[in-house]
Amino acid sequence: MPLVYGALLGDHAEGRVTRVTLFDLDEGRLSAIARVLAEQGAGVPDAPVVTATTDLDEALRGADFVFSAIRVGGLDGRAADERIALAEGVLGQETVGAGGIAYGLRTVPVAVRIARRIAELAPDAWVINFTNPAGLVTEAMSRILGDRVIGICDSPVGLGRRVARILGADPDEAWIDYVGLNHLGWLRGLRIDGRDELPRLLADEEALNSFEEGRLFGAEWLRSLGAIPNEYLHYYYFNREAVQAYRSAERTRGAYLRDQQAGFYQEMGKPDTPALATWHRTLADREATYMAANREAAGIGERDEEDLESGGYEKVALALMRAVARDERATLILNVRNGTTLAALDADAVIEVPCLVDANGAHPLSVSPLPYHAVGLVTAVKAVEREVLAAAESGSRASAVKAFALHPLVDSVTVARRLVEGYTAEHAGLSYLRH
Ligand code: G6P
Ligand code: MN
Repeated sequence: MPLVYGALLGDHAEGRVTRVTLFDLDEGRLSAIARVLAEQGAGVPDAPVVTATTDLDEALRGADFVFSAIRVGGLDGRAADERIALAEGVLGQETVGAGGIAYGLRTVPVAVRIARRIAELAPDAWVINFTNPAGLVTEAMSRILGDRVIGICDSPVGLGRRVARILGADPDEAWIDYVGLNHLGWLRGLRIDGRDELPRLLADEEALNSFEEGRLFGAEWLRSLGAIPNEYLHYYYFNREAVQAYRSAERTRGAYLRDQQAGFYQEMGKPDTPALATWHRTLADREATYMAANREAAGIGERDEEDLESGGYEKVALALMRAVARDERATLILNVRNGTTLAALDADAVIEVPCLVDANGAHPLSVSPLPYHAVGLVTAVKAVEREVLAAAESGSRASAVKAFALHPLVDSVTVARRLVEGYTAEHAGLSYLRH
């Protein structure tokens, strides 16, 4: 939220956002974040006015844009998602594999309820979904809101920016040929003045070793693929190593963030804590440790300095709002309904793809077709997402088991059954899976 508010503070053009309503179920969190925003806005004469409420309907009424970033079950829930999967020897990650399915099963029913309230109280609002697993949650909400909900992730932008930088190109001038599902996509080309510069990168060993995804996947594998995968594909292509690294870590990512956030809100409870500085420090620690287990598994050390400063989500969010509100055309990689973009998927499947955004919303641009190996992963994971949506709608345990069992990173139906047992025993938010 402070990142987004920071972006809004930098926008002084006519038609800019003038009012922000924060909504949270937890008063303590609301007042802590409100304090951070107050420090950010101090001295900015046209700073958007901030109010806060624990009443969703009040927050939604009259909104032009709704940002949805929720964490059903909190970070305790995320830590449990990881722990229960790892105990079965499979990956428990926030959005990937068994962990992502458990998180999706918990989140979809809540996201759907929010979408219904939006349809009722702010039917003309544009909804920007940050809630993970972002592709799945956007698809769930799109069944109610249609194309008025758009999902955002900063990982394709970050990848495009890193590749452009290595090639000596301006990321804003480059056309990035990227497509897939959220956290499951591939950069297959980067065009500058119509010329694809990716082959130049793939041919250059030193260049490949000088950015995050290059080091994570290794030059040889990237050349074999002829593409640069999203960093989350490390969980697929190096699954054993990633699971091993997750298992031997002192704490899982969720457990680390749970403790970190608890410390942050405790500090913010003291009246003389400098709010913005404390928030900045917390974010810096979070960024520095991002995907640490994967980097450990790949033996590649620390993240690059440039990757530590944020400049992803909030920029995409602001560019998206401007494009829609003022018809300032922009090309952004977003999570939207497929239409006819990927031939292997139906029109309603939410995919992640470059879109032309204008006052009429986000329109997916055409991209080159995916190779079979990528079609295989994309369709397998979409089938899993559809089972999650079916389970969330019907409460069917059989659908939940099918979701886990069909996932490429779950290796047995027996394991899938035990995962459903384990997750339903742990999470109150899964008690709807009754029959
Ligand atoms: C990336 C991903 C997001 C994720 C974020 C934070 O930006 O694209 O989906 O929410 O990292 O990850 P973390 O592990 O710090 O929660
Ligand atoms: Mn993401």
